[in-house]
Amino acid sequence: NKVVLAYSGGLDTSVIVKWLQETYNCEVVTFTADIGQGEEVEPARAKAKAMGVKEIYIEDLREEFVRDYVFPMFRANAIYEGEYLLGTSIARPLIAKRLVEIAAETGADAISHGATGKGNDQVRFELGAYALAPGIQVIAPWREWDLNSREKLMQFCEDHEIPVDFTSKKKKSPYSMDANLLHISYEGGNLEDPWWEAEEDMWRWSVSPEAAPDKPTYVTLTYEKGDIVAIDGERLSAADILSKLNKLGGDNGIGRLDIVENRYVGMKSRGCYETPGGTIMLPAHRAIESLTLDRESAHLKDSVMPKYAELLYNGYWWSPERLALQKLIDATQENVNGEVRMKLYKGAATVVGRRSENDSLFDASIATFEDDAGAYDQKDAEGFIKLNALRLRIAAKNGRKLS
Ligand code: ARG
Ligand code: SIN
Repeated sequence: NKVVLAYSGGLDTSVIVKWLQETYNCEVVTFTADIGQGEEVEPARAKAKAMGVKEIYIEDLREEFVRDYVFPMFRANAIYEGEYLLGTSIARPLIAKRLVEIAAETGADAISHGATGKGNDQVRFELGAYALAPGIQVIAPWREWDLNSREKLMQFCEDHEIPVDFTSKKKKSPYSMDANLLHISYEGGNLEDPWWEAEEDMWRWSVSPEAAPDKPTYVTLTYEKGDIVAIDGERLSAADILSKLNKLGGDNGIGRLDIVENRYVGMKSRGCYETPGGTIMLPAHRAIESLTLDRESAHLKDSVMPKYAELLYNGYWWSPERLALQKLIDATQENVNGEVRMKLYKGAATVVGRRSENDSLFDASIATFEDDAGAYDQKDAEGFIKLNALRLRIAAKNGRKLS
């Protein structure tokens, strides 16, 4: 028997390699992906080799991640609980998919991951895996072993001669972090007190708004079918677009978030996030839609957005309901073409202009407060209002109270 492990190359998942080999007496296949976490993935190869791993998968999934996961999610303007841009949630389905694909390729019957038994990530990995490979077995070491403290983990490393450089990470962080091209997250440590303010040097991707330049940066985003295809007129790949927006946002103090959120498993959890590019993309996408989307289509997709965000958060990317909603959302994006001009300044990403050559539904000749050309007859408004008021007047006549 064989198991495919989502392997970061870090301490925890290195312990998992050994633990799996020992506990299940099985062949371990490691899978390490570059999804823009900003750490080299190649070192994972030597580390896995040193532990006797024979099949080592290392892949650059940055383009696929942004093109097929992040961008479709932004078409929906998805936000969980009004604030969270779902940075970790959106990466898990891709990892889950590759895990079961690699299992099929290598003849493995199980997959494994380093998520704890208390979080959302275990749910996302496993729901995805079961949805795509119904017969797959899942091994979640954190739910099984008793290495629940840092000390026990270190002892395990010593006993199993897991090389020291695994344990002496350059910049040791007291937080549980997760990073990809969309965001970096921080949980645990001092953050477990929701009243505690995160110290300035916790944040890795952005300067503080106070330290950001005193001059605004302007950027123009070109949209095609709801996706950004160019920045300031330069066509870039999906991953390059997000990288560039991360840089622009981070430099201007944009995208920090500090929240208490509801995990799917039932507990509340405090998390800090930096999503510089995403924090620019969200209002920008709404702005291009404001010009090009029909009102009822816009309101309809807005009405399903919280549901869409919730099912992503809860790990149901690979589900019939997500697919159905995605088809609805994608169908509305056909004419979402044009440009948005954003002003980035001291923590704020503000829309300052929007235009669409062929798809704008904005008609200045109708909207104008000046003399109108006859497309809109103000007299029509009288009947429109009267008929809409009919039921209100009937109720009032009947003495219905409104307070
Ligand atoms: N709370 C966030 C979420 O559920 C971030 C999770 C971060 N995961 C991690 N392994 N550190 O999406
Ligand atoms: C974990 O528990 O592994 C991280 C946090 C989460 O998944 O929500």
